Amino acid sequence: MNLILIGAPASGKGTQANHLARHFSLKNLSTGDMLRRACAQGDELGIRANTYLREGQLVPDDLVVQLVLDRLEENDQGIIMDGFPRTLAQAEKFDILLEQRNMHLDGVILIKVSDPVLIKRSTDRRFDPETGRIYNLHFDPPPDEILARLEKREDDNEEIVKERLRIYKDQTTALITHYQKKNLLTPVEGSRMPEEVFFSILEQLNHGQRQTEQ
Ligand code: AP5
Repeated sequence: MNLILIGAPASGKGTQANHLARHFSLKNLSTGDMLRRACAQGDELGIRANTYLREGQLVPDDLVVQLVLDRLEENDQGIIMDGFPRTLAQAEKFDILLEQRNMHLDGVILIKVSDPVLIKRSTDRRFDPETGRIYNLHFDPPPDEILARLEKREDDNEEIVKERLRIYKDQTTALITHYQKKNLLTPVEGSRMPEEVFFSILEQLNHGQRQTEQ
């Protein structure tokens, strides 16, 4: 199974990608995580991407496509894309990459959440540098004993989040139309509890599969 998750900043793509990757044994490809790792390692890609990430701007298409290309392997059994593609140009390039590997998309999940909730989720997000686990001070509070070591993402301040949201809205219409035309897009209400969102995605995927089999 090959899936794409589309959603605004902090809509829960990473959270749901982790659940889906475990459930279906998929390779989880998050371009945001890959870019943050490259920045932390200070390699050439990281140096080029760093300013874009800090300012909440999209990293140029050619860099991100190359990053994904480097991670796709001939024998991939199933993948889940978190945060890629983000522009129509990336989606068109991704179509070609999949075709070259005889892979096909099974679904594109669009997670929908209102703007005020997105801003609250972003500014309250913290991550544990020791385990990589993502918490939320409001929605998914961490245990007291690890509170001091938790870190906040540099792009999770309100001003940058609003800019990321603006860019998301600007780019997403074309992306949505692209996958609607292919009959792959499934919108899911993302403002419920994470487990409820997950079950709703599973339900939609099952439904899609039943329709294909009929
Ligand atoms: P990226 O890391 O992809 O950031 P994003 O799209 O802004 O998404 P987030 O990681 O902020 O949120 P999420 O949707 O994964 O939510 P999460 O599950 O963490 O990209 C970062 C940057 O990299 C971009 O700005 C850009 O510069 C660059 N980049 C990446 N991909 C690119 C591409 N393809 N092209 C160009 N540039 C690219 O949840 C958020 C919080 O909410 C957490 O605290 C979580 O605990 C909580 N939460 C999750 N679900 C729920 C729920 N149902 N209820 C309550 N709380 C919840």
